[in-house]
Amino acid sequence: MQRDYIALSTPRWQEFQEYQRLGLIPRHGDFSPAGVHYPPITNYPPIPPEEAYRDFHELETRKFDVYVHIPFCHRRCLFCHYPSHYHCSESEKDIYLDHLEMEMRNWLSFRGIERIKSRTILMGGGTPTDLSPSQLKRFLTFFTKYVDITSCPQFNWDVDPSTLVGEDGLERLRIIKDYQGDRLTIGIQSLNDAVLRKMNRSHDVAVAKESIQNCLNMGFKVNIEFIYGHPGETLQNWIDVMEEACSLGTDEIQLYRLKIEPYGDQEGTIKKFSAYHEDELISVEDTIRMKEISDLILADHGYQENLRRVFTKNRKNISLYAYNQCCRLKDEVGFGLSAFSSLNDRFMINTPDFAEYYQRTEQGMIAANRCLIRNADQQARWSTILPLKNYFIDKQLFQRLNQGADVSQLFRRQFDLLLQYGLITEDDKRVELTPTGAFYSDEIVHLFYEPQHQSFPRKDFMEGSLNPFNI
Ligand SMILES: C[S@@+](CC[C@H](N)C(=O)[O-])C[C@H]1O[C@@H](n2cnc3c(N)ncnc32)[C@H](O)[C@@H]1O
Ligand code: SF4
Repeated sequence: MQRDYIALSTPRWQEFQEYQRLGLIPRHGDFSPAGVHYPPITNYPPIPPEEAYRDFHELETRKFDVYVHIPFCHRRCLFCHYPSHYHCSESEKDIYLDHLEMEMRNWLSFRGIERIKSRTILMGGGTPTDLSPSQLKRFLTFFTKYVDITSCPQFNWDVDPSTLVGEDGLERLRIIKDYQGDRLTIGIQSLNDAVLRKMNRSHDVAVAKESIQNCLNMGFKVNIEFIYGHPGETLQNWIDVMEEACSLGTDEIQLYRLKIEPYGDQEGTIKKFSAYHEDELISVEDTIRMKEISDLILADHGYQENLRRVFTKNRKNISLYAYNQCCRLKDEVGFGLSAFSSLNDRFMINTPDFAEYYQRTEQGMIAANRCLIRNADQQARWSTILPLKNYFIDKQLFQRLNQGADVSQLFRRQFDLLLQYGLITEDDKRVELTPTGAFYSDEIVHLFYEPQHQSFPRKDFMEGSLNPFNI
């Protein structure tokens, strides 16, 4: 018999309110996901290309995790803030691929490198499989000319179910496999048709399940993504979705809390929707209960949270791309419109504007036009926030990235406070969130943000001892 998950989520809701009183969580209960960048991306100034890589030295291995952004989708999902374009013709996509190839060539000659040695790869977007099978093949042909994939242990794709079914879908999967693609993250989002319609997804539940089956049949490792707190969801239909998700035989299940406020440069349709359909928004209480309910159901089915909000049956199937970037802070280079590169002391972003992207690449330039080289304080915060949220702070790694600085001295006040409230553990090698801390990871890492970069203003918080403005 199913456990009473709604009743079981009550202590978590009470605990959440207690952390609001302590000032850790804003009064309104909203959140802001700590992304891969600190300071936030909206603060990056324009930069001439010759400045972006000034004094930059690749790590000794000269390897990179490689990201490619394919900015096309069949249609715009209600919730999505990601930069993408819709209803584009085949010839527009061909023109984009021409310029993507130019960008890669330009970057290699700019850096004086013949070929990139890849540590891991992620194809994202948008939807990389929005390309037709022949375009996909053409793209992979030039991509593998510039990127050596021979010693790459994992080649990931972020895909949409509707592109993985039917003759074309199966053909795309065969092409991905021919080029050593082995791990797919499929945006399933929900297993409830009414919710999928509300999300304006281009697939229904039947197509979502067919896509998963096609990928599993072809031997891919499969991660499926869901959003909770989305209009149309209820506690009961979320329980049903999670129970069914656990029965589909995938290696991994990844969960996102719906974000209504944009957190990068782009704004999704959900922002406008929220202004006109306030009555359809899910309350904070139900959203927090959904988060707790999914944690309970996933644990009951043997899924463990190995990276933050990513639940895996077998740890060895986690995304190595995410692990390298968020836990080990390795160098990653991104190609394509609006793609970012995260390097050991800086973060840079390619232009999000097609015309500028085309102009720069045709003129032989790299596509990055904004960059932030972190100062020592920003570097220390960046190398604390990401690993603490996703994994643990490795004190030795921190020292390496911060010219010998000691993280436990630099952030002693924060660590003492978090230890006092049972939100972290610390020993001489690492600092790690406790299970309770993990539930509030996005809020906890805000204790390491400078006041001007906090996601919410001071007035949103109660004056408790965990108020991020009082640190
Ligand atoms: C680049 S997107 C999508 C990949 C793919 N195009 C798809 O649609 O399946 C990566 C994931 O971010 C999540 N996401 C996008 N917008 C979100 C939002 N506003 N709030 C929470 N999660 C969001 C979705 O679960 C989505 O699958
Ligand atoms: S969720 Fe995926 S398919 Fe939907 S708009 Fe965003 S990137 Fe495109």
